[in-house]
Amino acid sequence: NWQMGDFVQLEIARIRELVGDRALVLGAVSGGVDSTVGAKLMQEAIGDRFKAIMIDNGCLRLNESQQVKENLGKHLGINLTVVDAADLFLSRLEGVSDPEKKRKIIGSTFIDLFEQEAIRIEKEAENTPNTGKVEWFLQGTLYPDVIESLSFRGPSATIKTHHNVGGLPERMMNGQGLRLIEPLRMLFKDEVRAIGRQLGIHESLVGRHPFPGPGIAIRILGDVTKERVEIARQADNIFISMIREAGLYDQISQAFAGLDTNRSVGVFGDQRVWGYIVILRAVRTKDFMSAEVFNFDNAFLANVSRAICNQVEGVARVVYDLTSKPPGTIELE
Ligand code: XMP
Repeated sequence: NWQMGDFVQLEIARIRELVGDRALVLGAVSGGVDSTVGAKLMQEAIGDRFKAIMIDNGCLRLNESQQVKENLGKHLGINLTVVDAADLFLSRLEGVSDPEKKRKIIGSTFIDLFEQEAIRIEKEAENTPNTGKVEWFLQGTLYPDVIESLSFRGPSATIKTHHNVGGLPERMMNGQGLRLIEPLRMLFKDEVRAIGRQLGIHESLVGRHPFPGPGIAIRILGDVTKERVEIARQADNIFISMIREAGLYDQISQAFAGLDTNRSVGVFGDQRVWGYIVILRAVRTKDFMSAEVFNFDNAFLANVSRAICNQVEGVARVVYDLTSKPPGTIELE
């Protein structure tokens, strides 16, 4: 509609005005709809002076970094660098089970890598005519992120540290004098999707369920290891594929399979096994600030459970989470 059309034109003009005609903008992209819309707006506004960085933290969904390369790099023409840092993240997460600590470690590792990328990009830019320094940092922050991180401060702390609002910017800002650019700060998810469609971003990406920056790490209750990430990733891929095949994907706002690292006893054939517990979660929500549980057929859930137990080694049991938000959050941590 015309209001959305206005938003795109106004925002592109605002970005050009803010950034000027020499400065570079660095941006974190995840391949989700928010960061993709943010990146596309930047690319429309300043072209190749926008540098998109995707960091593979080892906790992404199955085949995610290849898909992002394909979508952003090839289809949307965004200047994209993918940094494979899976081993670094997983080694720093070793033995850590506290959810906030996980988020902080992941957030600060992201910053370390962005700092390195900023330095690399500045060096490259020295040899490019009419190009200035990296002065801005793009974030695909949405209105609900802003509210949850900034205004729900209890007596001691925030509800959760969303790493795309807390942590990440502060050190970059103070340490390197970067300024934050957040084109989506005033928007809700459905508005971002509408803008994405208008910018010509493919429906499969625009309609994709959100995925948190810390990724599978906050869907594993307990220590994160490479093996556990792999189990959760395989289970998640089976669950999401079956949701798609059943034609339910667009009725659900967010769905995933997580992992409880306590183990449960099961029988496979005549063998007694001791395996992990997969937790399936699927919710419906408009704004992600409150959510209701999606009602599957029991028969569908039983099929998913069977498929996961049969296909993913190391899983002995599958459960479905019936907690709405509140009191539960959407993610497991
Ligand atoms: P919760 O779990 O807080 O999730 O109910 C609400 C929405 O936010 C996403 N989420 C995150 N996104 N970094 C992110 O980028 C985070 O640390 C984070 N924690 C939650 C979650 O996937 C859901 O869409």
